[in-house]
Amino acid sequence: MKVGIARESAPGERRVALVPELIAKYKAAGLEVLVEAGAGSGALIPDGAYADAGATVVSTDELYAQADAILRVQKPSPAEVARLRAGQAVVGLLTPLIDPQTAQALATRGAIAISLDALPRTLSSAQSMDALSSQANVAGYKAVLVAADAFGRYFPLLTTAAGTAKPANVLILGIGVAGLQAIGTARRLGAVVKAYDVRKETKEQAESLGATFIVLKSVADASGEGGYARALTPEEQTAQQDELNGHIAAMDVVITTAQVPGRRPPLLVTAAAVAGMKSGSVIVDMAASALGGNVELSRPGETVVTENGVSIIAGDNLPATMPAGASAFYARNIFELVRHFVKDGALALDFSDEITAATVIAHGGAVVQEATRQLLEPAAAPALAPAPATTGGAA
Ligand code: NAI
Repeated sequence: MKVGIARESAPGERRVALVPELIAKYKAAGLEVLVEAGAGSGALIPDGAYADAGATVVSTDELYAQADAILRVQKPSPAEVARLRAGQAVVGLLTPLIDPQTAQALATRGAIAISLDALPRTLSSAQSMDALSSQANVAGYKAVLVAADAFGRYFPLLTTAAGTAKPANVLILGIGVAGLQAIGTARRLGAVVKAYDVRKETKEQAESLGATFIVLKSVADASGEGGYARALTPEEQTAQQDELNGHIAAMDVVITTAQVPGRRPPLLVTAAAVAGMKSGSVIVDMAASALGGNVELSRPGETVVTENGVSIIAGDNLPATMPAGASAFYARNIFELVRHFVKDGALALDFSDEITAATVIAHGGAVVQEATRQLLEPAAAPALAPAPATTGGAA
């Protein structure tokens, strides 16, 4: 069986699904590796490094003609979907619950679509394949560096002959994988860190990394299924926003990471909260998306500077801005998933296996994943409704 590593086509995407160090592992698993010319260029991995490690560098036409499975980071573009042939597999972060139409298009081509973001993450046997966690880890780290870079002052307490710099006050909202890494990184830079999440169990985790956990009276605990948060009721959300406003006003830096599976991200930082912040403060909204983020004024892909001097940075694809480090983790995740599917050098899908049943989205000409199928039904309401229009404040 031949795996083919695609060159990513999504704007700004610099990651790649293979690093040269893993080629020996593919070979040991009985797989031949093809690499589309230039696939590693965004991560500064030259074609020669793949060739030296035992892969064959091929043209785009050769890749789609020869590979049995195309491995990639982001979902294929419509033009790339049109290149696939029946029975060919495509493996990546296909986001079928956000974009079920691409899953449908892949099914129509007869492709086998396998999505890493559908992995049952709590299964211990799936942990080495958990790309959502590995990439959230990178994003949480990079969010702090981006904030520190944009902040016009020091993060640590610094005493010098020319005076003393106070440490930065940093607030992390959402303490999942990204939030925990953000706490650790901000602490390592010397900031004073506070953190908040609606899941009660995060208090101990945040405190173990040196953050002070903020307890809100409005939402005691909103733990949902599978270790995730549940969506708050509109009343809880308003009460939460009002209570958070007082904390946000005292912060130099706010990093938001909050997500609820299958829903648009919760709004945590309102325009009123931003209006109460000091000039020079920085917000990084890691949940920023076209559907709306955690921060009312954030715009995907942009930095907004408000009239009162607060920079609001969209952290919508931070792993792509640290491409070599993020690719090294991602490449390991996708290798482990592919290896799970391969028996005697060929793809062997056993739908009684939990990982297979969860991650195979399209197969045999049909969308087979139930949650995606439901979204494609004509009467289905969109799972991720666009955010309501936000109100002013940005300069
Ligand atoms: P995520 O990206 O879905 O959400 C990030 C954080 O936002 C979560 O901690 C969530 O509780 C929080 N959040 C949601 N709504 C909020 C609101 N209104 N206000 C404040 N915070 C809010 O979560 P992620 O990082 O993908 O995973 C969350 C948890 O899932 C992990 O911390 C862990 O407990 C569990 N998990 C377990 C794994 C395992 O057992 N191997 C692997 C991955 C995750």
